[in-house]
Amino acid sequence: MTALKASKVLANKQDKHDSSVEHSDEGFTIEKFDLLNEIAQGIAAEFALSDDDLQILMTEFVAQLDDGLGTNDSAIEQLPSFITQVPNGTETGTYLAVDMGGTNIRVCAVTLKGDATYSLEQDKILIPSALMTANSPVVLFEWVAQAVKTFVERLYPDSEESDKDNNKLDPQRSFDLGFTFSHATQQDSVASGRLIRWSKGFNIDGAVGQDVCALLQQALTKLTLPIRVVALINDTVGTLLAQAYSSPHHMFTVAGAVFGTGTNCAYVETLSRITKLHLKTAQHHINMVLNTEWGNFDQYLKVLPDTIYDRAIDAGSVNPGFEMFEKRVSGMYLGELLRLAIVSVLDTPDVCLFPGARIPQTSSIFCQGSLDTSLMSHLERDVSADLVLSREKLEHWSGIRPINTEAVHAIRAMSHAIGKRSAQLSAVALGAVIVQSQCLNKQGEDGKDWIGIGVDGTLIELYPGFITEIRRSLRCLVDIGEAGESRIVISIAKDGSGVGAALAAHLIASAREEMYIAH
Ligand code: BGC
Repeated sequence: MTALKASKVLANKQDKHDSSVEHSDEGFTIEKFDLLNEIAQGIAAEFALSDDDLQILMTEFVAQLDDGLGTNDSAIEQLPSFITQVPNGTETGTYLAVDMGGTNIRVCAVTLKGDATYSLEQDKILIPSALMTANSPVVLFEWVAQAVKTFVERLYPDSEESDKDNNKLDPQRSFDLGFTFSHATQQDSVASGRLIRWSKGFNIDGAVGQDVCALLQQALTKLTLPIRVVALINDTVGTLLAQAYSSPHHMFTVAGAVFGTGTNCAYVETLSRITKLHLKTAQHHINMVLNTEWGNFDQYLKVLPDTIYDRAIDAGSVNPGFEMFEKRVSGMYLGELLRLAIVSVLDTPDVCLFPGARIPQTSSIFCQGSLDTSLMSHLERDVSADLVLSREKLEHWSGIRPINTEAVHAIRAMSHAIGKRSAQLSAVALGAVIVQSQCLNKQGEDGKDWIGIGVDGTLIELYPGFITEIRRSLRCLVDIGEAGESRIVISIAKDGSGVGAALAAHLIASAREEMYIAH
């Protein structure tokens, strides 16, 4: 039985699960295990990418990155951030930051100490799912403003707390706030940006085209908070800035990338190559940080792998036809890919995935989005005898008992393949950005031999072996190779979005007269 055959059954899954399913309790014969194993391996093989595939993907990735420099209509949009310099670690000051991620918001007060270190106070709050699909963006931004108010009141309960010498915020003054916003925005200055589209499950009517910086400012002003939103950045830009701030001097920080609920990257591009950008002010700088929005790479699937599971994810998403790369890579989708693969096995005739188990109709196995990618991390990490820990996790998630070891192995094989493909595609994207930025040719320039990439996000932080697979795949790419890969330092930029927003606020405060605005 091939995975393709199994996949056909996926289409009929709805009919088959109208009532709870009683699986035979005949137990597992060797023959049945072989069949289950074959099915699972077949599905895993659908996610496999060869070294040649990676090379083809990277060539196309570079072409689409390059396209984005000249036009706004490219799949990879290459959005200007209007940040023209990266920090060098000597920046100082205390700034407020709001980081609106895909799952949480963080409200922070960041003190940059000027020696590549910082201290940070923060509140982290889960964004209620109802707000992600509210019927007006005002509702969301008023909720954010309230969180800022609560934070500021907690941190600075009264003016006695003011302590300028210790570099704390002075509640008598207005606070400068950097805003990290993790969706695609078209900026025409560093302090404004119109939403191009939502991602990661957000879908709020009437928000596209609006200036999210102004929306936040209005909500803060409505609460009479003395706060000015002075900078708007994408989370990847924040990650890059934070990484540059804390990097040693022999390192050139070229990119910041996020692999979490969503995925994206910002990198340092030569200003004169961004031909679509027409600036009102004279150009004093040579570089500008671009927010690639690489999640939308290969929107029309010229080269990206495309399984029936990928197609099902896209069809069931709030943004079908968009973010095809993100839907194959990021944490929001990997768990769902695995769930669909499991359902596919379950629905394969003659295969009994859960012998002896009764599958409740209400099992999470039938519930879209119920399998969190963290479960895949557990499966990958498990070294317990007979994978007993994985079995417990799977039983807990699915409500199906008992799940036997053979089934756990089958699920783990598919999970591994999905995670590996995600890391390989991530390597392709990072490799393409490195090639595009031309940083490998700049060996030794300014004494900076090492190429720094700051990364953030639960997937790259917590998924076992993710960075190792990225590095292995980078070595396979001809334009990077072993020599290139050995010069690349991938570091987790902890608190990247919050610290990056504070750094952006600092850069604006200290270079206000040089700020660029687009025509
Ligand atoms: C958004 C990007 C963001 C990325 C990581 C994507 O869905 O479009 O703007 O940087 O997620 O959070």
